[in-house]
Amino acid sequence: MTQNLAGTARPTAAVATPAGAGRGWWRDAVIYQVYPRSFADANGDGMGDLPGVRSRLPYLRDLGVDAVWLSPFYASPQADAGYDVADYRAVDPMFGTLLDADALIRDAHELGLRIIVDLVPNHSSDQHEWFQRALREGPGSPLRERYHFRPGKGEQGELPPNDWESIFGGPAWTRTTDPDGTPGDWYLHLFAPEQPDFNWDSPAVADEFRSILRFWLDMGVDGFRIDVAHGLVKAPGLPDLGTGDQLKLLGSDVMPFFDQDGVHQIYRAWRRILDEYPGQRIAVAEAWTPTVERTAHYVRPDELHQAFNFQYLGTYWDAAELRTVIDSSLAAMRPVGAPATWVLSNHDVTRHVTRFANPPGQGTQMRSPGDRELGLRRARAATLLMLALPGSAYVYQGEELGLPEVTDLPDEVRQDPSFFRASGQDGFRDGCRVPIPWSGTAAPYGFGPHEGGPSWLPQPAEWAGLSVAAQSGDPASTLELYRSALRIRRELSALGAGDELEWLPAPAGVLAFRRGSLVCLVNTTGEPVAHPTEGRLLLGSGPVEPGLLAPDSTSWWAV
Ligand code: GLC
Repeated sequence: MTQNLAGTARPTAAVATPAGAGRGWWRDAVIYQVYPRSFADANGDGMGDLPGVRSRLPYLRDLGVDAVWLSPFYASPQADAGYDVADYRAVDPMFGTLLDADALIRDAHELGLRIIVDLVPNHSSDQHEWFQRALREGPGSPLRERYHFRPGKGEQGELPPNDWESIFGGPAWTRTTDPDGTPGDWYLHLFAPEQPDFNWDSPAVADEFRSILRFWLDMGVDGFRIDVAHGLVKAPGLPDLGTGDQLKLLGSDVMPFFDQDGVHQIYRAWRRILDEYPGQRIAVAEAWTPTVERTAHYVRPDELHQAFNFQYLGTYWDAAELRTVIDSSLAAMRPVGAPATWVLSNHDVTRHVTRFANPPGQGTQMRSPGDRELGLRRARAATLLMLALPGSAYVYQGEELGLPEVTDLPDEVRQDPSFFRASGQDGFRDGCRVPIPWSGTAAPYGFGPHEGGPSWLPQPAEWAGLSVAAQSGDPASTLELYRSALRIRRELSALGAGDELEWLPAPAGVLAFRRGSLVCLVNTTGEPVAHPTEGRLLLGSGPVEPGLLAPDSTSWWAV
């Protein structure tokens, strides 16, 4: 099933204009997340693909990002939109071929863009060859040791082996049927039943992932985003939690299936592999941990390079809360010498335009469109704040267009597996995954090659006005705001790397800080605030008058 490239693996051409070479390009990189299903569809089947991404690389170069992280495009039955991998060394035909991946990496490098790919080591697809063999061969098969198979509890083994719940809802265990047709052992899946968890105590699993890392490093990728990096190691004996509603504990407690200390030795081994390759190859952890201090463990000097800052993502548009999370993030990263990261949206949460359009306290999944205008104003201001902070920033495709969440998708088009499982993680993640609009007045708005052609999720009619073509050249557009901000960020050495910022006195609801020659002023209130401004205005998320901060706005000043 593994596809082969013609010829043998060889180092890919170096990146043309390495950003921040010498001091760690990743320390202040702006990394753009491409969700391949929904970015650009070259063959017109309604599903985005790698040739589509490749054709849009010049757009990303011109936007001014440093690197592109691609969500999974590997061979997969798509039970969880590709986060269920059946073959880690093959491209799913839906997305193209390994040759397309190779061409994409090469083109990106020629344009000065780096490529980060998603790695899914917590679980495979249930269609992975190992899991299929484990099922076929039955109890006693050595392949079963690569996953968590256990006999059930109860007289007939009819109850799950422990009380763990799936993040997508329901029990984290599914019972198998033995080759002779009788009910057999259970297997663990922290996510969907189609995503059996690997057993990381198995040397075969560890070996396989080291080999997969090398496979993609040899292909020339610049790094990995590690999916569920906090989940690989489970507490010995798989102990019961003793309580239901476990999802509610995820934010505050260390669980027997998440954030176990044993994960760190895996990342130390991976770091040694990354360091063997030239060109500063990196890894970023998707690690959901109870505190930023625990997140910092993943980015100790001999582990991964970055970790997503989900505490920041989960913070509402509120000056005091933002200041607290900014300070605690910088303080947590300082002792380990890793850059802080800042992120507002991704493929798992409601787009921040819509989060900020709604009242606080609703978490990161919501179905109400809220006050769109307010949400966009705050989102634009939040972007200029994020891009002024020290460290690296992540941009999720479409946020540069100010896209809101699509909150009214009909149930029959939804594909998020958690939507179909009771009491899961809300199940509304499709709303941020709708294909993005590029041009034209009719769907799919340039996402696919033909007007009136398909898109795997329907796009709202209003999106014609939000397309790349519609916004390009309009100085008031969100796209041009991002372009300007990223250009200034590249030009101004005060922005980006480092871990220092100096807070300036500011009234309630306002954040003011200096980084070198830049002053950033943020008004999170709905009222104009009189506040001294000095220096030269570089950029504003809204209208700017000297001495007055517009409601829900951020401005950058050169001093
Ligand atoms: C990560 C991914 C999410 C996926 C889950 C299971 O959280 O971001 O999309 O459903 O892992 O792989």
